[in-house]
Amino acid sequence: MGADLHEQIVDSIEDLQGAHEGCRRVHAKGTLLDGTFTAAPGASELTRATHMSGEPVRVTARFSNGSGKPDAHDGAKDGRGLAVKFYAPEGATTDIVCITLPVFFVRTPEDFLEFTRARRPVGDTGQPDPELIGAFVEAHPESLPAIQLSLAAESAESYARLRYFGIHAFRWIGAGGAETLVRYRWEPEAGIGSIAEEESRGRSRDYLGEELLERVAAAPVAFTLHVQIGEEGDPADDPTAAWPDERESREVGRLELTGADTARERDGDVLVFDPTRLTAGIELTGDQIVRARSHAYSVSVERRAGIPRPAGLG
Ligand code: HEM
Repeated sequence: MGADLHEQIVDSIEDLQGAHEGCRRVHAKGTLLDGTFTAAPGASELTRATHMSGEPVRVTARFSNGSGKPDAHDGAKDGRGLAVKFYAPEGATTDIVCITLPVFFVRTPEDFLEFTRARRPVGDTGQPDPELIGAFVEAHPESLPAIQLSLAAESAESYARLRYFGIHAFRWIGAGGAETLVRYRWEPEAGIGSIAEEESRGRSRDYLGEELLERVAAAPVAFTLHVQIGEEGDPADDPTAAWPDERESREVGRLELTGADTARERDGDVLVFDPTRLTAGIELTGDQIVRARSHAYSVSVERRAGIPRPAGLG
């Protein structure tokens, strides 16, 4: 993998969404909450990760729109994100970074670059060339499920009423060394809701963030964490491929967000969520996208915050 592939990936995103000072190159607009995560009793049987021990752990959660445009209307057709940072008891942090799609568009960073370039607006139309996208999909039928799901999505009613998926598989390692292949899913306790795009356009530009802050001021916003458990032969390395619906899902914890975050992203603090920031008891699979994310996020951090990429991140 060329050292500058991730720079090219972020360049291609900027070609679509622009480069907005101080903003993440995608998921530019977000709202931060704080609270706690408490693992369910069964979680520690599957992983020795300390945030899964059952003791409440402090968290920072960021809800976001997928777009790189910080002034986009919240009703726009878009994926939404929920990134959670767990402050583990020993002082380390670990992140789970999810979106509202259960599968991803591509399997490799090279395909991501090709797909993003195919979506570049042509001329002064502001629209992509349908032929380029068609050619990409024809060569990459694995991208169809994610494309179809994102086209079918309605506008969000509330960040608190969406289901968020981790997409990649991770290996959970138990105290005795037993390995379990898992995929994360956050289920909203407020139920699932969406609204027609037309209705959302009648709401204020920032209605999702405003609604979330009003909601959390009145009562905690809660999600349960579920892991879908992979079986022998289920693809561990392919973020475009869902596992069969009948695979066991286990509830492994509860996120309770209690208020607006007042600690992070102030006075020069740079907050970065990275799905490869793991902890003992959780490991990556061979999925190429999850590793590429870490590098691309570092490029974005360097561009938005002026911080050189941490050593070793390529
Ligand atoms: C190769 C594929 C991907 C690329 C190149 C990419 C790129 C990026 C970049 C550049 C950022 C901004 C990072 C920062 O400045 O801190 C970002 C943020 C984010 N990405 Fe991705 N991404 C990819 C795949 C995914 C996938 C598969 C998911 C979900 C499973 C995801 C979820 C998110 C979320 C939720 C954020 C916002 C995190 C926050 O609130 O700080 N991304 N992505």
